[in-house]
Amino acid sequence: MGHHFTFNTQAKCSHTEARAGRFETPHGSVETPIFMPVGTLATVKTLTPAQLRSTGAQMVLANTYHLHLQPGERIVAKAGGLHEFMQWTGPMLTDSGGFQVFSLSSLRTIAEKGVTFRSPRDGRTIELTPEKSIQIQHALGADVIMAFDECPPYPATWEEVELATARTYRWLERCIAVHDPRDRALFGIVQGGVYPDLRAEAARSLAKLDLPGYAIGGVSVGEPPELIEKIVKVTAPHLPADKPRYLMGVGTPREMVRAIAAGVDLFDCVIPTRWARHGAVLVGGDRWNIKNARFTEDFTPLDGDCPCYTCQNFSRAYLNHLWRSREILVYTLLSIHNITELMRFTRRIREAIAGDRFAEEFASWLAAAPS
Ligand code: GUN
Ligand code: ZN
Repeated sequence: MGHHFTFNTQAKCSHTEARAGRFETPHGSVETPIFMPVGTLATVKTLTPAQLRSTGAQMVLANTYHLHLQPGERIVAKAGGLHEFMQWTGPMLTDSGGFQVFSLSSLRTIAEKGVTFRSPRDGRTIELTPEKSIQIQHALGADVIMAFDECPPYPATWEEVELATARTYRWLERCIAVHDPRDRALFGIVQGGVYPDLRAEAARSLAKLDLPGYAIGGVSVGEPPELIEKIVKVTAPHLPADKPRYLMGVGTPREMVRAIAAGVDLFDCVIPTRWARHGAVLVGGDRWNIKNARFTEDFTPLDGDCPCYTCQNFSRAYLNHLWRSREILVYTLLSIHNITELMRFTRRIREAIAGDRFAEEFASWLAAAPS
C-alpha cells in the first residue's frame, strides 16, 4: 500500500490554508485542488471518454448505489473493472452508496447493521452494510473508495447528529476491517452536521486512523450555503495536513474557492452536467440559459476565451437552435463547456496558489462574482 497513494503539497498560500498538491494513484496522478466530474452509472452523461479527457478532467467519480442496481458489480468485475468497462484510463473514485440510499430511496430503514431499502427498479429489498459496500467497491475497482457513512438530514438535533456521527465511526472501523489496501485507497468521511464540536471530534478521531485520505460529508443537504464554509473551517484543521481532503458534493466556483481557502483539495458535483441538461451554461462565474431569445442571432462562442471544443467550433446561435429543436447533441456540447469551465477554474486556482497569488486573486473574484 502507501506508495501508490502518496499526497505531496507542492505550494502553500501564505495567507490562507489553500495548498496545491499532487495525489498519486495507480492510474496516474491528480493535481489538486481539483474538480472531479461525476459519472454516476460509469458514464459522465452524454460524453465519450475522449471528450471527457478533452475538458481537462483528471479523476472521475462513480456510484456504488447505482452500479449495484444496474448492471451489478458482478458484471463490472467480469468486464475487468470500471476502468476497462467504461474505458476511462485515469484515476477513479466510487462513493459508498449510503448517501444515495438516503437521498434517492423510499422505504429505507437504518440500523446498526446497515441500511435496507426497496430497489426502485424491481421493488426487491436490498441491504447495504459497511462490509457489503466495501466488497462492492472492491469489485467495481476504482482507485479510491469511500467509507460507508450515515449522513444525517438537515435540520437535525445535536443528539441525532451525535448518534449518526458515532455510528459513522463504527461503520468506518468495519470498513477498515474488510478493506484490502493493496490496490486501492479507502477514505474516511467526517460527519457532524452543522455542530462544530461534533465535526472537530469526528475529524480528530478519524485522523488517528492514518487513512490515505479524508472526506468532509454531510454538506449541501439543505443547510444555508454560508454554513458550508463554516463547517469546513471547523473540520479541516483537525485532519492530517499530509493527506488529501475531499469535500463531497460541492460545488459551485464560489463554494470551491472558500473551501480551498480552508484547505480542501478535492471536489465533486453534478452541476456541470445537470445544468447542461437544463440548457444552463457557466460563463465567467455566471449562469446563463442557452434557450434565451437573446442568443438566437448571436454568432459568437459561449465564451471567447474558452479552449473547449464547443467554444472553438460553435456559436451561441447554433446551440440555441439545437436546444429549441430538441437535438440531443446540445447536451454533449454544453457538458463539454461546463466541465471545461470548472476544470479551468480549479487549474487557475492551482496556478495562483503556486505563485502565491491565491488570496489576492480570489478574494477580489469572490467580491465580484455573483452568488
Ligand atoms: N456525497 C455528498 N455528501 C455525501 C456524504 O455525506 N456521504 C457520502 N457517502 N457521499 C456524499
Ligand atoms: Zn467552452
